[in-house]
Amino acid sequence: MATKSFSVLIVIALLMFGVVNVMAHHGLAAYDMSKTISVRGVIEKALYENPHGYIWLRVDEKVYYIELAALERMQNAGLTKEMLAPGAIATVIGAPHRTDPLQMKTRRIVIDGKNIDFGQGVPATLVQQKAAAVSDLPKSTVEQMPKQVGQGWLLWLESSSISEAMRERRLLYPSVEIIHILGIIILVGTATLFDLRLLGLLRQLSVAQLSRYVLPLARISVLAVVPAGILMFMANATALAGNPVFRLKLILLVAALLNALVFHKWTGRKVETWGAGTGAPIGAKVSAVLSLVIWVSVISCGRLLAFF
Ligand code: HEM
Repeated sequence: MATKSFSVLIVIALLMFGVVNVMAHHGLAAYDMSKTISVRGVIEKALYENPHGYIWLRVDEKVYYIELAALERMQNAGLTKEMLAPGAIATVIGAPHRTDPLQMKTRRIVIDGKNIDFGQGVPATLVQQKAAAVSDLPKSTVEQMPKQVGQGWLLWLESSSISEAMRERRLLYPSVEIIHILGIIILVGTATLFDLRLLGLLRQLSVAQLSRYVLPLARISVLAVVPAGILMFMANATALAGNPVFRLKLILLVAALLNALVFHKWTGRKVETWGAGTGAPIGAKVSAVLSLVIWVSVISCGRLLAFF
């Protein structure tokens, strides 16, 4: 009976984490998708890569920083790297950023005589735009572009062949991200189940048994989560290293590790003697609360990376 309810609980926990993550995916919340703006200018610089392509588009004295789409989507829509060469003229129709007037998300890019849509619906009033002559536009404002920050080793990491493959191979980044998420589902799902038991829920389950089944699974999942995270980090090392949310995530990961060590060395060292119906001591309960708070925070930071 205990084994059956245990299996059901694991399945529920895993599904809950999976559903929450899938629902949370896609970073459109940074943009006001109810509004549409249109800008026309000269491409100063382009990034044709995963997880998102970008262009810096000079319009009069301003340079817009414009998100395109994932590599796979750009390729499927017929947008090639060559079309985004510096000097090309483009019209971009899309959603404005909620806080930065010089950022936007593309719905349609009109370039090289083609309309290229990223499938989010373009209002009929903004359909075909004529290209401007390059001479109509003021001279380059490249110096206004966000500068690449980063120490030597970050730049070296970012220009390695693995990082390049992560950015440029169509399905590599998304596949690695899926592995990251699957690992998170198992890691955080199993940790949560164990923490809830320590806190007194599911008392019919033996803590000792639970730790024997669940904790090895959690450890194995780290072998998926961490390498996948490092690979995604390598793809954009300079930007991520300077990102406060990413730094916070790393600090929280260290905190999770320390919390687990404290549990295994002190607060939970007698776990083998806690059978069905036994309550956990207060120290173990504190470890459980900390673990729940830390994992929710790590997941939140991971998801918020796309917005900061
Ligand atoms: C072990 C616990 C970890 C958890 C719970 C976690 C959680 C997350 C979550 C929820 C996401 C968002 C996924 C998505 O939106 O599709 C994410 C993305 C990411 N994580 Fe982790 N992560 C962990 C470890 C790591 C490690 C160790 C690194 C690197 C050193 C890392 C680097 C990244 C990167 C680079 C992204 C991609 C951000 C983006 O593409 O927007 N993660 N993580």
